[in-house]
Amino acid sequence: MSLAPGRPLRARFPIFAAMSGQPFHYLDNGATGQIVDVAADALLGFETRSRANVKRGVYGLADAATVAFDKARASMAAFLGAGSSEEIVFTSGTTMALNIVAHGLAGELRPGDRIVSSVLEHHSNIVPWQLVAGPAGAVVRAIPATGEGRLDLDALAAMVDERTRIVSVTHVSNVTGAVSDIARIRALAPDAILVVDGAQRAPHGPLDVQAMGCDFYALSSHKMFGPTGAGVLWGRGERLDALPPFLGGGEMIRRVSFDGTSYARPPHRFEAGTPPIGPVLGMAAAARWLMQQDWSAWAAHEKRLGERLLNGLAAIDGVRVHGPQGLQERLGIVAFEVDGVHAHDVCQMLGDRGVCLRGGHHCAQPLMERFDVAATARASLAPYSDADDVDALLQGLPEVIGRLR
Ligand code: ALA
Repeated sequence: MSLAPGRPLRARFPIFAAMSGQPFHYLDNGATGQIVDVAADALLGFETRSRANVKRGVYGLADAATVAFDKARASMAAFLGAGSSEEIVFTSGTTMALNIVAHGLAGELRPGDRIVSSVLEHHSNIVPWQLVAGPAGAVVRAIPATGEGRLDLDALAAMVDERTRIVSVTHVSNVTGAVSDIARIRALAPDAILVVDGAQRAPHGPLDVQAMGCDFYALSSHKMFGPTGAGVLWGRGERLDALPPFLGGGEMIRRVSFDGTSYARPPHRFEAGTPPIGPVLGMAAAARWLMQQDWSAWAAHEKRLGERLLNGLAAIDGVRVHGPQGLQERLGIVAFEVDGVHAHDVCQMLGDRGVCLRGGHHCAQPLMERFDVAATARASLAPYSDADDVDALLQGLPEVIGRLR
């Protein structure tokens, strides 16, 4: 059943009962969402009542675990709009997914090839490319950010050339909340391999990776209300077929010999070792639950709260939002700076009042440099956020500023 967003939805998220009786305004959903009950049940149910390794045993318990794992793959394929379950690689999260792609493509890079990332990226979509570009003599270039923290796609149009092999961008900025126009990026770089970091987008509604036109898409379970420790790399069938493995180990091979080893087909080729089975089952339970929700009601709720937050911050003296000022093509992730006060101090003092924000560079130092700040505070909304959470921030902030100045 679909519950109304805001307070009613909290019945499904155990953290809110656990924190009752103390001020708790959780506005750090960009760092991690809270776990939904069905995901927690799936995780705990597996670990305590049906635990066995997958893809190995032939006895009943092991077989049931493998069947559940396969069902999880089908659920994630449906959530992403993938062509088939074989296109779903289970990973430990977005960072591992992006590393699998970067290291897998490393062998194709030639001196002078270009990889295009962007100033908006999380470090996990910059550093893996730098790791593989250096030894190959390839170059990592960055799409600049506009003043309001969006990808400058006019600049991208001027950057793409015949040496541009890979374009890897975020779907939604973890700092500014800006939503990237993936279809336009695809059109601007039709011959490049297009990789999308979907970590911040996944909790905001079903996806259609095929319509988006990308080649690879990465997401994390814990941001979409599943357990920590799991994620997905989606790859277009022919792209995954052509990708060599990054990690070697058990269950990713066809045959191992000292004369030469051959590899399993995707997705198993990329799942060396025992996978995070419980977290994967929890992630899939969260995805199935998310697919049943009323996304238009959730989106309208997030917009209303986003507006309240942006307007409220704009009215506080000395506060400056870094990111789009309007609500078009942006999600409820809002980074702000307070004149003359460090973001860590702001977040710590608000934390003492039960208002949970992230403060720092958000693993996005190039963007901080673009904004000419060392750090910002960041509030990030989820469907269970409500006006009280936003108001707790808006009421607490002037008081905190007054004490810190
Ligand atoms: N990537 C997460 C964030 O933006 C941890 O906070």
